[in-house]
Amino acid sequence: MDDQGMEVKIARDLEDLSEKAAEFVLRFVMDLLKGQESVSIALAGGATPKFLYERLAIQSIQQKIPWSRVHLFWGDERCVPPEDPDSNYRMADATLISQVPIPMENVHRMPGEKAPEAAAEEYEKTLRAFFGSSPEWPRFDLVLLGVGADGHTASLFPGSPALKEKKRWVIAPYVEKLKVHRLTLTLPVFNHAALVLFLISGREKAPIVRALLSSVPLQIFFPAQMIRPVQGRRLFFLDPSAASLLDQGRGG
Ligand code: 6PG
Repeated sequence: MDDQGMEVKIARDLEDLSEKAAEFVLRFVMDLLKGQESVSIALAGGATPKFLYERLAIQSIQQKIPWSRVHLFWGDERCVPPEDPDSNYRMADATLISQVPIPMENVHRMPGEKAPEAAAEEYEKTLRAFFGSSPEWPRFDLVLLGVGADGHTASLFPGSPALKEKKRWVIAPYVEKLKVHRLTLTLPVFNHAALVLFLISGREKAPIVRALLSSVPLQIFFPAQMIRPVQGRRLFFLDPSAASLLDQGRGG
């Protein structure tokens, strides 16, 4: 762990990345549950985490996790119904939720089928019901995030007014680049997590990864760089392609 509360793991390939990440999540969850009743995890969307979810669902791992003490949330969601092929929920349900004995009341889905603003307000109520309304910000035990080649993370895209949100926990920004609304947790929510685990694969991410992991203070110019937990840490699981522009010796 370096002084920026950051740790980097470079896997042999995407399969190894998913195996290592699953083993880490298992250990992390089991350690936490020694000292607390339940664990809150915000899932990421996209393609990379799919393999992690599949890994967590294999018998040898899932049988070690007391799923009734695990609460799943989403870091972001597309504004589509849960059965839509684009739905982050659908992907997590197919690869993990439907494969493990987690009580459905522990699965806190973002209502992508609803009107964006109403969905954001509803999900904020869901979070406040779980974390309590008194904290200014919820503190997720674990947040999984991916990164796009443009440096977006969750549904926080470069140049978006969403990056300036300082009060709300959940918003529904219009994403100019995609011409759609999205649901997303806000930067302060991510930055109040205890641990943010980035899962990054693909050569097109390499320039972003290099900037993300740079020890030289860079001007902040893309969203994934703005994820800096105030009292938490960042862990990066990279495949070799995503790590290909890092200087040698980075990452265990
Ligand atoms: C989404 C994710 C998004 C994703 C990145 C990386 O809903 O698509 O929130 O931020 O994590 O686009 O996606 P890959 O892991 O598929 O490259």
